[in-house]
Amino acid sequence: MTSMKKTRFQFSQKIVDCYFDASFKRLEEIVNKDKAIIITDENVFVAHKSKFKKWNVITLKAGEEYKVQATVDAVIAQLIEFSADRQTILIGIGGGVITDLTGYIASIYMRGIDFGFVPTSLLAMVDASIGGKNGIDVGEYKNMVGVIRQPSFLFYDLDFLKTLPDTEWSNGFAEIIKHACILDSKTFSLLEKSNIGKVKRDKSLLRDIILRNVKLKVGVVKADEFETGNRKLLNFGHTLGHALETQYELTHGQAISLGMIFASWLSEKTVGLKGSDRIEKVLIEYGLPTRGKFDVKKVFNVLKMDKKRVNKDMSYIVLKKIGVGIIHKISVDALHEHLVEFNNMIK
Ligand code: GLY
Repeated sequence: MTSMKKTRFQFSQKIVDCYFDASFKRLEEIVNKDKAIIITDENVFVAHKSKFKKWNVITLKAGEEYKVQATVDAVIAQLIEFSADRQTILIGIGGGVITDLTGYIASIYMRGIDFGFVPTSLLAMVDASIGGKNGIDVGEYKNMVGVIRQPSFLFYDLDFLKTLPDTEWSNGFAEIIKHACILDSKTFSLLEKSNIGKVKRDKSLLRDIILRNVKLKVGVVKADEFETGNRKLLNFGHTLGHALETQYELTHGQAISLGMIFASWLSEKTVGLKGSDRIEKVLIEYGLPTRGKFDVKKVFNVLKMDKKRVNKDMSYIVLKKIGVGIIHKISVDALHEHLVEFNNMIK
């Protein structure tokens, strides 16, 4: 059998091997099965049961509500039962919750063991599995506790997407549209020419979009791994989005879609963006909501606790133009006024 093609990305302390076009059955070629422990969730496990035969597996309940310390404690207890040691490698197979938990647990177990990811959702493929941020939520504060530590490998098997529910496709596209908005007008145009149905049907277009996005995200992270500068661009739509997500029954994609609409509106007002209607249209074409009234007081209370806040100023990500995101300093008070004005416009 020929060896699998890999793309290597050099981060500050680690090389991450990316296997695009991989197939799950070849995972055993890159890790020692006896030393590997898979962490996955019930949904992935049930949908792909036969794949997990002969692997050590820890199966968790599915859902963001389990991305908490109690799950970390439970997994650590199981790792001790498995007699996991410093040679053990954890493999997170799932969406963003699983990759976050796996990366975090691997980073603290015995002060840090090796880990890799097999992202199974579009969101995890283009975003959550890339970048090394791994953490858990605390109460209503998302990703409040965590580390920045890169996995050893990313292993892509697009067959996992066959069982992906529609809302999960939209979650992935929300991040894809975000990457295009802040980084790459060409990818934005490519998305504009298509829609969610077309991309789902066209495997080579889907592959192209995933590859472009991995490269875009890796490029930003490599240039600023520890988020002192431009990595913050990846928060486009997320400051309001995260606050909405914790206060309302919204998926991550829906919440950041609404966050991107607000951020685009703010970009027109503050830095002269033109064409925010194009962004709204693309979001709609990929199954995402663009209008939603919210309780400003409630949402603002969460938003101002955002990790990126420094004193009274926040770094808000806006667009100079489509494909060019910039960091814009805004006072907490001014942001509040903008939010009230924006929310009042929504019918
Ligand atoms: N784990 C996602 C990131 O590092 O951005």
